[in-house]
Amino acid sequence: MIGTPRVPFVAGNWKMNLTRAESRELAGRIAAAGPEFGGSTIVLMPPFTALGDVAAALTGSDVALGAQDLFWEDRGAYTGEVSGPMLKDAGCAYVLVGHSERRQYFGETDATVGRKVRAALKAGLRPIVCVGEVLEEREAGRTTARIDDQLARGLDGFSRDEIERMIFAYEPVWAIGTGKTASPGQAEEVHAHIRRRLEEGYGKTTASCAIILYGGSVKPANSNPLFKEKNIDGFLVGGASLEAESFIGIVREALLAYREEK
Ligand code: PGA
Repeated sequence: MIGTPRVPFVAGNWKMNLTRAESRELAGRIAAAGPEFGGSTIVLMPPFTALGDVAAALTGSDVALGAQDLFWEDRGAYTGEVSGPMLKDAGCAYVLVGHSERRQYFGETDATVGRKVRAALKAGLRPIVCVGEVLEEREAGRTTARIDDQLARGLDGFSRDEIERMIFAYEPVWAIGTGKTASPGQAEEVHAHIRRRLEEGYGKTTASCAIILYGGSVKPANSNPLFKEKNIDGFLVGGASLEAESFIGIVREALLAYREEK
C-alpha cells in the first residue's frame, strides 16, 4: 500500500438479477451486518427497478447505493435510458461506467465511457470506471497496452480534481463469471501499472489516494490474499454479491487482511 493504509471498499454488482422483494431482503441482511464492516465502504448496485427498494432497506445504515450504468444526457427523448440526476434522485452515490458487459453486449466504447464519466461527475455521483483485457489480449502480452488505451481514451480531458472523484476497477474479462480469478500477483501487476499511470498523469498524491478495485470471480476464499497486495484497495463483486453470506464473507476476509498487513 502506498501512503496511508485504506480500509476495504467492496461493491456488489447485482447485474440483471433479483426481484424487488429479493433485493430488499438481500440489502436488509447486508445492512444488518454493518457493525462487522469496521468502517469499510460498502456499495450495493441493484438493477434500476430495485433502486428505490434498496435505498429504503439501507436507510440508517452506512451501506451506500450505486447503479450499474447511466446515460450522458440529463433528460429528454432517449427511450430506455436513465440519467445521472435520476440516479442521484433515487439515492445513488456511485455508478459503474464501462463494465465489460456493457462494452461487449451494448456497444460501449472508450469514448462513450468518457461521456458517461463526465455525466456522473456532473450529477454528483462517483463513477467506478472499469477497465480490463480479454483473454486474447492477455495471451498476446497486450494487457497493459489495452489498459493504457482504455484509460487514455476514456479519461481524456479530465482534470486532476475530477480524477480524484473517480474509482477504478480492474476486471480482466476472462475472470468475470468464469470462476477463474486472476492470481494476486497477476492482479497486483496491473493495479500497480494503473497507479503508475495515474502518477504520471496527475501526480503522486492523486495516485496514492486512488481507489483501485479488483473484479473477477472474487469470493471469500480469495478476498484475503488479493487484498494483501499493496495496490488492491477492494473489490467489485458480481456472482458472490447475490448471497449475503458470501458478500459479507468477502468484506470480512478483506478486513482481516487489512488488519494483518496494512
Ligand atoms: P463476477 O463478476 O464476480 O461474477 O466474476 C464481477 C463483475 O462483473 O463485476
